[in-house]
Amino acid sequence: MKLFDSHCHLDDVKFDEDRDTLIPKLHEEGVDILVSAGYSLEGTKRAIELAKKNDFIYATIGISPNDIPETKNELQEQINELKDLYKTCEKIVAVGEIGLDYHWNTENKELQKEAFIEQIKLANELNLPIQIHTRDAVMDTIEILKNNKVNKKGIFHCCPFNRELVKEGLKLDFYISFAGPTTFKNSKNAPEIINMVPDDRFLVETDSPYLSPEPFRGRRNDPRNVRYIIEKIAEVKGKTFEEIQDMAYENAKRIFSIE
Ligand code: NI
Repeated sequence: MKLFDSHCHLDDVKFDEDRDTLIPKLHEEGVDILVSAGYSLEGTKRAIELAKKNDFIYATIGISPNDIPETKNELQEQINELKDLYKTCEKIVAVGEIGLDYHWNTENKELQKEAFIEQIKLANELNLPIQIHTRDAVMDTIEILKNNKVNKKGIFHCCPFNRELVKEGLKLDFYISFAGPTTFKNSKNAPEIINMVPDDRFLVETDSPYLSPEPFRGRRNDPRNVRYIIEKIAEVKGKTFEEIQDMAYENAKRIFSIE
C-alpha cells in the first residue's frame, strides 16, 4: 500500500501515550507520506518537530479560526512567528488549516476573516498553497477566496458536502480533500459530491485523531484509516482501490510540491 494522508494532527494529546511507537508502525503499514497540520502557534511548532524527526512526515503552518487570539495585534504577532518558523524547516508544504468556522465560533467573525485574509497573504509571500477549514461559512469563504487570489491554489480540507462550495472551489482550481464523513451512512450526498470532483482534483485525509471513518466511528482515528476513504471513492467512481490510491497520491504530491 502507498497511502498519502493529506491532513492529520499527530501532535494531538490523544497520541501522547503511544506516538513514538505508533509513528514507525504507520509507515510500516502503508502510510507512505502524511501531512501533520498546524492549527495554532503551539500546534504548528509541534507539527514541525514531527516533520524534522520523521522522513515521511510533512507539516503545515497556520492559525485555525478556532484558535485565533483575541486581538488584531496578537494575531499579527502570531503570523510573524509563523513566518519565522517557516525558515526553520524545509518540509512545510502549506499554510493551514486556516479559514472560517461559524459553527463553533460566532462571536468574532470579523477577526476570523482578517486572520484568513492575512494568512492568504502569508501563503503568497512564502509561495505555498493553503489548506482551508470552513464550517457553516460557505458564502463568506467563497467571497474571501474570490477577492484574495491565492497564487499556489489550495485545498478544501475535510470537504463539507456542499455543492456550491465544491463548484466554486473547482472553478478556482482548488483541490477537494475527502475525510471520514465521506463514509458515514448519513452523508447522503457524498456520492454526488465525489462525482463532481475530477480525477486530478481530489485528495484523501483522516483529520485524525478525529472523524474516524466507518467502521471505526467513535474510536481514535489514525492515518492508516485513510484507506477507508479511498475504498469509498473507488466504489462511487467505479475504479479500483489502487487507481484511486495512486490518483490521490499524485494529486497530493502535485499540490504540496513534494518530489
Ligand atoms: Ni484538522
